[in-house]
Amino acid sequence: MDARDFFGYKNPDEEPGRPDPDTGEGDDSRVPLFEEAVTLDDAATLSRIDPDDMLGKVAGLPRQLAQARRVAASVELPASLGDVETVVVLAMGGSAIGAELVAAAAGERLRVPLIVHRDYGLPAGAGERTLIVAASHSGETAETLSGFAVARQRGLPTAVITTGGRLASAAEEARLPLLRYRLGGQPRAAIGFGVGLVHELLSRLDLISDPDSLASAVSALEPEMERMAPSVPTDANPAKQLAWAMFGRMPIVYGHGLMSAVAHRWKTQFNENAKAWAAWEPMPEANHNAIEGSLNPRELGDAPYIVQLRDPEEPAEIAERYRVVEELLGERATNRSEVVAEGPNPLARVLTTVAYGDFVSVYLAILYQTDPTPVTLLAMLKERLARAAGSDPTGA
Ligand code: PA5
Repeated sequence: MDARDFFGYKNPDEEPGRPDPDTGEGDDSRVPLFEEAVTLDDAATLSRIDPDDMLGKVAGLPRQLAQARRVAASVELPASLGDVETVVVLAMGGSAIGAELVAAAAGERLRVPLIVHRDYGLPAGAGERTLIVAASHSGETAETLSGFAVARQRGLPTAVITTGGRLASAAEEARLPLLRYRLGGQPRAAIGFGVGLVHELLSRLDLISDPDSLASAVSALEPEMERMAPSVPTDANPAKQLAWAMFGRMPIVYGHGLMSAVAHRWKTQFNENAKAWAAWEPMPEANHNAIEGSLNPRELGDAPYIVQLRDPEEPAEIAERYRVVEELLGERATNRSEVVAEGPNPLARVLTTVAYGDFVSVYLAILYQTDPTPVTLLAMLKERLARAAGSDPTGA
């Protein structure tokens, strides 16, 4: 079943992805029935349910990171871009999470505050000493284009990250630094560029002191990717095992510091790939509210599946909090597990844990017999909003 069937959309004109009656293009009849048995260990089943190869795209993360390094190195960056007091990244969804992950991995090494602005316009306080980074995979996102247009009107220092669209054209016309990468497909599957380009941009502008090397993150990723690859059977594959544990339940992902940004990524990947309800909770804030919220409605007591993302270098006070939560909830909340990040530096630990969650989310989609790639409702929403607006938000 996909979102169109579930929500009962019937007008083919309004349903992106519906089969074209003349060409048969976009036919989704290959998606198997829910009743059919499914296994994560049969290559034919994986490719039948994942025909656009989201699994392959997840596995492409190290390659994307290496390409992002090259793209960033080839762009001329005026040193004045680094002479700022704040960085504001204008981005939404799959294009926004990259900057959040970079900021989380850099932690206190970030020389200035970084705000990821997921809204129209600019945040309060953005001014001449603010570096604006407009990041949009498609280059067509309304909120990002709106903030970019305001930044242009005010003449703020700006750099652009995109594959094309109106954002690329406007950046070229204004001769702004343009970190342009080539990759088709879904924005969330471009996470290697999302992280790599922001990381390299900020590092080159000296806005991250002592930055982690992307190359060592790539080396740390490779064995992790092999461990979770589709060819590794469930018995030996932790990502497949976790997907099975979550099957039929609602994932809630907890994390602290850098792992809180990763928890956010896991949540969005469960939404978009597995088309599943999901939530995330940052620590220690969750100890001040979420811990109390596990009682009602009682019928749903068994519904959530909790994952705690742990960083081996998390502060002792956070480790102590997890220990006490375990003491209090251990016997009651049995549907849960822990994932411990691995890697030689914070950026590598962020990326290996992102990859882990990405794999789990696609395996979960396959267990639900749902094609992970299309985001039907999201596409319909954008299309309807664009039709209603009918104007150019870049102000061009
Ligand atoms: O994952 C997605 O498809 C979305 O979250 C998009 O990233 C979001 O809508 C913004 O689009 P873009 O990344 O093209 O700016």
